[in-house]
Amino acid sequence: MKVTVVGAGAVGASCAEYIAIKNFASEVVLVDIKEGFAEGKAMDLMQTASLNGFDTKITGATNDYSSTAGSDVAVITSGIPRKPGMTREELISTNAGIVKSVAESLIKESPEVIIIVVSNPMDTMTYLTHKATGLPKNRIIGMGGALDSARFKYRLAEALDAPISDIDGMVIGGHSDTGMIPLTRLATRNSVPVSAFISDERMEEVKQATKVGGATLTKLLGTSAWYAPGAAVSALVHAIANDSKKMFPCSCLLEGEYGLSDLCIGVPVKIGANGVEEIVEIELTDSEKEELASSAEAVSKTNGLL
Ligand code: 2OP
Repeated sequence: MKVTVVGAGAVGASCAEYIAIKNFASEVVLVDIKEGFAEGKAMDLMQTASLNGFDTKITGATNDYSSTAGSDVAVITSGIPRKPGMTREELISTNAGIVKSVAESLIKESPEVIIIVVSNPMDTMTYLTHKATGLPKNRIIGMGGALDSARFKYRLAEALDAPISDIDGMVIGGHSDTGMIPLTRLATRNSVPVSAFISDERMEEVKQATKVGGATLTKLLGTSAWYAPGAAVSALVHAIANDSKKMFPCSCLLEGEYGLSDLCIGVPVKIGANGVEEIVEIELTDSEKEELASSAEAVSKTNGLL
């Protein structure tokens, strides 16, 4: 499998590293606009190969998409990250133009590619990628829900004082501080609802901490996070490579599912060799439906700024 990662900043480099370290891709191409930057990151990562035991070949290119030709998967991380105090939505005016031109360049070289969108505001950038490329909807995946669910599991494990491997949980809705919907009702520890172990009050704290997971890190780091976003991308690429049909919440184009249309927002999907192979419609309570509807309204409003 050949994977392109556009943007060799912290998020892009983490994507490349986590993909390579799992040793399932033959090639990862990093592309960046900054002269020599992607080449440098690629070389540094390649010098970890003998130490970390992978054979994936990582190369870099400065704003040249010819080396990305024939990619099976491409990850768009380009654009500016948010700074402390900023919302993801505030990045739209800068990032929209960048993501559009990257998506167009990618499909010229790799007409069959599956695109994973990371750039923020992620749901709107996923929607924009649809509009810019016209690719079938199964081939455009917004990464947010996979990341937000990992953050939810981290917060649940912390609250329950449990190992994360005991925990299961999902976040649907928009990838924004107010739009995320951690499905606390469905979260489990070893098949037992987590509500059996923590109070409603503690659960609410977990929910709120999950929703502002990215903002909390941005405040601590001075820029947005990269390890967990990189790991979430790598998990999605691995599911495509293995045709695993693994279920993740991801942002994808809805056409009536969950009563929503003409927007991309996080819902559970099965990821396999063809990208989004199925949108899974789970039964939501009335209040969860309301949360999803208002999250969708906010995403559509941001889409209107395109
Ligand atoms: C985050 O939540 C980058 O949006 C990403 O960390």
